[in-house]
Formats: sequence, C-alpha cells, structure tokens
Amino acid sequence: MEPWIPDEVLHTGAEAVVTSGTWFGANAIKKQRTERKWRHPELDAHLTKKRLQNEIKLMVKLRNKGLPLPIIFDVDLSQRSMIMQRIDGEPLIDILKIEVNHKKILHSVGKSIRLLHREAVTHGDLSTNNIMISNNESAILIDLGLAKVEYEVEGFGIDLHVLHEIFRASHPNIDAAMNHVIEGYLSVDADLGEVQLGSGGTIPSAHECVNRLEKIKQRVRYHSG
Ligand SMILES: Nc1ncnc2c1ncn2[C@@H]1O[C@H](COP(=O)(O)OP(=O)(O)OP(=O)(O)O)[C@@H](O)[C@H]1O
Ligand SMILES: [Mg+2]
Repeated sequence: MEPWIPDEVLHTGAEAVVTSGTWFGANAIKKQRTERKWRHPELDAHLTKKRLQNEIKLMVKLRNKGLPLPIIFDVDLSQRSMIMQRIDGEPLIDILKIEVNHKKILHSVGKSIRLLHREAVTHGDLSTNNIMISNNESAILIDLGLAKVEYEVEGFGIDLHVLHEIFRASHPNIDAAMNHVIEGYLSVDADLGEVQLGSGGTIPSAHECVNRLEKIKQRVRYHSG
C-alpha cells in the first residue's frame, strides 16, 4: 500500500502547492514548496529547507503541547514537502463571506492566537487564509512558515495588527470583528492565569499585547493620515 494517495490540488500559491489526499487512509494534505527560479538554486534550496525545518520544528513542539494545529504525518526535506492532517472545515476568509453572526468563531480565533503567543511564538502571517475553522467552529492555525520565537511585545502586537488590517478587506464591521477576536484572546489569560516564564524571558500578558495593538493602530493612522 502506498502511504500517500493524492486526490486533488487544493491550492497553487507563489510558494507552495497544496494537494489533498490520504496518508495510510487518514485525510491528509501534502504541502510542497515550489522552487523560486529567480533565486540562486543552491541558496533557494538552503533557505527553503531552513524555513521548512523551522515550520516543522515549531509545529511538532506546539502540537505536542496540545495547541490547535494540524498533526504532521511525514516530512521529506529533499522534496521540500510535508504531509499533515487535513482539517475538515473552511478557511476563515470563506467563513466571513457567509452572512451569519461570526462571534463564536472569532472568539475561537482569538483564543487560538493567544495559545500560540503564550508559547512565545508569533505566527508571522496571520491572514484569514491561514486560519482554518473546523466543522465544530474552532480555529486551527496553519502555515507557520514565518513563525518564530518572540519575547518582545511588539511582535505579538504586529501579529494581531496583521489580522486587523485584513479584516478591513473581508469584514463589513472590522471593529466588531476585531473586538470578538480580542475578547477571545484576553479570555485565555483569564482562564489559564498568568503566563509562565519562557526559556528566553518574560512573555507579555494578553493585556500588554492588546494595548500594543492599539498603539500600532494609532501609529499607522498617524503615518497614513
Ligand atoms: N491542514 C490543512 N487542512 C486543510 N486545508 C489546508 C491545510 N493546510 C492548508 N490547507 C489549504 O491550503 C491553503 C494553502 O495552504 P498554506 O497557507 O499552508 O500554503 P501557502 O499559503 O501557499 O503557503 P506559503 O504562505 O508558505 O506560500 C490554505 O489556505 C487552506 O485552504
Ligand atoms: Mg497560506
């Protein structure tokens, strides 16, 4: 039996091709990073491998801690590919197009982001394409290729700000949407208590990160106004 049986190509991006299929019978997706022809081939291979290793290392570590991320099934660094659990659901971008009350979903989005931040990790690319909403309405973060270990409050504020900016394009009421996300984000610290000291220092509290988001919004307004 072939472990990986491909089904159909779901997505062809600038950096990766995503195919659905099964892995030993389990619903899976294969993400294959594409070569970037404009870059020196050896340098490209090196950078792509580094990025993939970073993504896998963080995903394995965080998933082991119970964070809402897909399980990694298999990796082939020489092929620049990884096979992971397929999340049954839709990306947030598509969910926001449906005219229903998104409060519960956005709350879950905030919670998932805060769980990541509490591990001293920023996502680095928090677009509504990179947040999957499972069929039971909980948010699962994907595409951690730009994620990194972070202790400065600015990094966490920027993560939230990226999402805020993307809501402008995809949500009719950005402020209400973002408020639901923030509510979920703050609720995690209220439930789990103060964040433990990380190996690299103090991880900013949810309140500190949300305050920084507000500062970043003001900064952006000032510079664009
Ligand atoms: N584990 C998964 N389960 C279900 N769908 C997924 C999963 N991973 C990716 N997808 C689908 O494929 C799309 C693209 O995946 P992903 O964001 O990882 O790649 P990408 O954006 O091309 O990567 P990069 O930003 O590194 O170029 C997602 O928006 C989602 O629709
Ligand atoms: Mg993506």
